[in-house]
Amino acid sequence: MPEPRTFRDEPVSFVRRSGRMSEAQERAFEEHAPFYLLDVPRDVAFTSVHPEARLDVAAEYGREAPLIVEIGSGQGHAIVAAASATPHTDFLAVEVFRAGLARTMLDAAAVDVRNLRLIEANAPEVLSTYLPEGSASEVWIFFSDPWHKKRHTKRRLIRPGFPATAGRAIADGGLLRLATDWEDYALQMREVLDDAPEFERAFDGDWAERFEGRVMTAFERKGIAKGREIRDLTYRRVSRV
Ligand SMILES: C[S@@+](CC[C@H](N)C(=O)[O-])C[C@H]1O[C@@H](n2cnc3c(N)ncnc32)[C@H](O)[C@@H]1O
Repeated sequence: MPEPRTFRDEPVSFVRRSGRMSEAQERAFEEHAPFYLLDVPRDVAFTSVHPEARLDVAAEYGREAPLIVEIGSGQGHAIVAAASATPHTDFLAVEVFRAGLARTMLDAAAVDVRNLRLIEANAPEVLSTYLPEGSASEVWIFFSDPWHKKRHTKRRLIRPGFPATAGRAIADGGLLRLATDWEDYALQMREVLDDAPEFERAFDGDWAERFEGRVMTAFERKGIAKGREIRDLTYRRVSRV
């Protein structure tokens, strides 16, 4: 299957890293994918989701519980820590980086986290069709790729149109939590979300307080080491009626 360049005629926000996985990562997939990794019907590309496929959340997790979705979970540090600390909530990690998914499964299995699933897919497709409408109590996006070169900013995930996609998946009153170390992208996130009828600010002042449920990842550490300020944003899904 080809790799996607666009989804609904818009550029996607990632380039799949090539390169083989290590033997340990391959083993992690073989051993842990049957429990952790959702088997998604695909459309035209490997990381696509068939538009008619729907996740049966309660059947997958075996219960009714709040669902927190992390987009671009990377190595999984934030979501494994959160899932382990919050056993009465269910978690879904959405990522296209295979080695990161392998790491996430290894770490989750090591601490016997059972309230977590992973999906290897392009996030907007998960939010716009695969998740049932209003099924997520929160969506987290931490250190989304900044695509900082001028000619690349159109690839940024949080751009006009994204709030409607995320807002579809989030329940009324649910939260969209963001963090970035890239000032220009932080300003874009705030502008795009301030303009979105689906969301309202859930913070006073210029930026949100640091989300206490967000553990420090390598990306945050790197941003701080380079002298960049970390900015959090939190938006609440307004009621649909
Ligand atoms: C800069 S990394 C940050 C990872 C992690 N959140 C952290 O703080 O360590 C961004 C991640 O988002 C993933 N990503 C980017 N666009 C995506 C998309 N459309 N769907 C799923 N994952 C995506 C990338 O593969 C990458 O692993």
